[in-house]
Amino acid sequence: MKKLFVRLAAAVLAVSMAIGVTGCSKTDVLDKVKKDGKIVVGTSADYAPYEFHKLIDGKDEIIGFDIAIANEIAKDLGVKLEISDMKFDGLLPALQTGNIDFVIAGMTPDAERSKMVDFTKIYYTAAQGVMVRTEDKDKIKSIDDLNGKKVGVQKGAIQEKIAKEQMKSSTIISLGKIPDLIMELKNKKVDALVVELPVANGYVAKHPDLTISDVKVKEDTGGSAIAIAKGNPELVEAMNKTLDRLINDKQIDKFVAEANEAVEN
Ligand code: ARG
Repeated sequence: MKKLFVRLAAAVLAVSMAIGVTGCSKTDVLDKVKKDGKIVVGTSADYAPYEFHKLIDGKDEIIGFDIAIANEIAKDLGVKLEISDMKFDGLLPALQTGNIDFVIAGMTPDAERSKMVDFTKIYYTAAQGVMVRTEDKDKIKSIDDLNGKKVGVQKGAIQEKIAKEQMKSSTIISLGKIPDLIMELKNKKVDALVVELPVANGYVAKHPDLTISDVKVKEDTGGSAIAIAKGNPELVEAMNKTLDRLINDKQIDKFVAEANEAVEN
């Protein structure tokens, strides 16, 4: 009787372990993508020249150099690209739940994110800048000049972390989308924004009331990489191969130039 019970318990344990194991093991994204014939990229299309909306022949399209890279990735995998646009801070959760297959969003691979997802190699590097109203350029020259002032950043972005850590005497306002931050700056609801320079440059070129200040922030992480759910080494490798090709052929530089041409802001 006792022996039977032990055997039964062992069997129950074995079965529940098997369920547990398969229950945890996520679907292989590359297999799924090939089976479906499409790959879904998550992005936050508020980030010209990386990714942004533009009316093309009366149709709202998402373009940018990240999207051009995503298209090459889909092409190399032999599948169709589908774009899922959301707020930046929703991207990694969406990746983890499998709603999207990869993220390309000018995303910087930092230690915190690397605990949650895997990253490809860096395909583009950029520094951070502090944007202010042109009329304030002479007044706001250092981080100390921002004491007691309001600084806007994108929610969930590394700029939020930089501002919170380095601008301790400022009030940090975090919003989901960059165009809203630009409006807040123009309307004097905030006094400065921490923004990646390629993005800031695009706005400054079109808005004479905005400029890049002399304020310098410290940054230890720079550059953008593609994020993929953990446990998909083959997919990471495939994407790295595409990136290698695009980097070696100077295609990324071309995509960046084309995107900059298309920016309207
Ligand atoms: N590079 C910054 C980060 O990784 C900001 C990226 C924001 N991207 C965007 N598509 N809005 O946090």
